[in-house]
Amino acid sequence: MTFPLHLSVVFWSLSFTTAQWCYQGQYSCNETCKAPSEWFTLFAKCGGERQSPINIVTSKAEFDPALTALHFHGYHEAHNVTVENMGHSAHFALPPSLRISGGGLPDTYKALQFHLHWGTDAGPGSEHTLDGERFPMELHIVHIKEKYGSLEEAENDTSGIALLAFFFEETAEDNVHFNVVKEALGRVRYTGNSSTVRVLRLGDIIPATHDLHGYYRYAGSMTTPGCDQAVVWTVFHRTIPISHNQLVTVSRELDFWTGKPMADIFRPVQRLNGRIVYRSAVSPVLSSTVAVWFCTFVTVAMNWNKH
Ligand SMILES: *[C@@H]1O[C@H](CO)[C@@H](O)[C@H](O)[C@H]1NC(C)=O
Ligand SMILES: *[C@@H]1O[C@H](CO)[C@@H](O)[C@H](O)[C@H]1NC(C)=O
Ligand SMILES: *[C@@H]1O[C@H](CO)[C@@H](O)[C@H](O)[C@H]1NC(C)=O
Ligand SMILES: *[C@@H]1O[C@H](CO)[C@@H](O)[C@H](O)[C@H]1NC(C)=O
Ligand SMILES: [Zn+2]
Repeated sequence: MTFPLHLSVVFWSLSFTTAQWCYQGQYSCNETCKAPSEWFTLFAKCGGERQSPINIVTSKAEFDPALTALHFHGYHEAHNVTVENMGHSAHFALPPSLRISGGGLPDTYKALQFHLHWGTDAGPGSEHTLDGERFPMELHIVHIKEKYGSLEEAENDTSGIALLAFFFEETAEDNVHFNVVKEALGRVRYTGNSSTVRVLRLGDIIPATHDLHGYYRYAGSMTTPGCDQAVVWTVFHRTIPISHNQLVTVSRELDFWTGKPMADIFRPVQRLNGRIVYRSAVSPVLSSTVAVWFCTFVTVAMNWNKH
């Protein structure tokens, strides 16, 4: 009879501690929540040797010929997607028919959800940095190996999770494809609120997949507690455009579980601890240069033929 009671106490204290981590911006001296530098005191894995995010030093990234283009399956299907305010960010649940493979990944992975990391009013807000530059926002698309039934199962495997990361870059024009995401965030201000997005095509939000040959790859972790070191990271070079107004709106749309405005939702960069960051087969700069040469050559040749 006492056993179930003990169990419920354990579960109660687990759910209690789960709610007790927070981002640096939420933290103040009168808060009891743990800021990122203290996460490891509640979640030991957050103090591990292969943590994310990291700063990517592009000149030190090693070329790996196995890093060819990824295959995206189902990314252009339209789906009803549910968005929920999780208290520290908002998750957009994705159907498992969205899959990725190739690109040096050890398996085929199915999608679970996507979410964003942002700053304050269009200020720096990405989790990864590129040669020290912090972009205004970062999109994470979370996938697990097809054979697993849940994120928890995948967290047990050092390559169980494949995370795709895209940086946003501020442009003069609104990105009309992003409005569906922005408006959905506006409907889930409070923790636990959820809303359905009618007709969301993830393929419309990310850059054209034929432009995604340039990326960085490294082994890391989830960037929120429990920080499981089970992630194959793919950080794309090609950015997603977004206007200043759209960025400002997004960073004012939601509240944290503590009631404060949900802003600066990114973890500081973590130590590499000897890890190597690899880069894909075709560097983005080189491929566009080759394309320009090729087009010039074709144009010259065609004109030559006319004469
Ligand atoms: C903590 O202190 C700040 C500044 O004095 C105050 O605005 C905030 O409401 C306090 N938070 C709590 C949880 O008491
Ligand atoms: C979305 O949900 C509506 C209402 O439940 C349904 O009529 C529609 O077919 C769904 N759309 C897609 C793409 O699944
Ligand atoms: C994780 O692996 C351990 C050891 O193999 C196993 O006992 C446990 O059930 C696994 N957890 C999940 C969620 O699959
Ligand atoms: C959102 O959450 C708040 C606070 O829990 C609640 O009062 C409100 O009714 C919710 N709104 C919707 C649309 O679910
Ligand atoms: Zn994330």
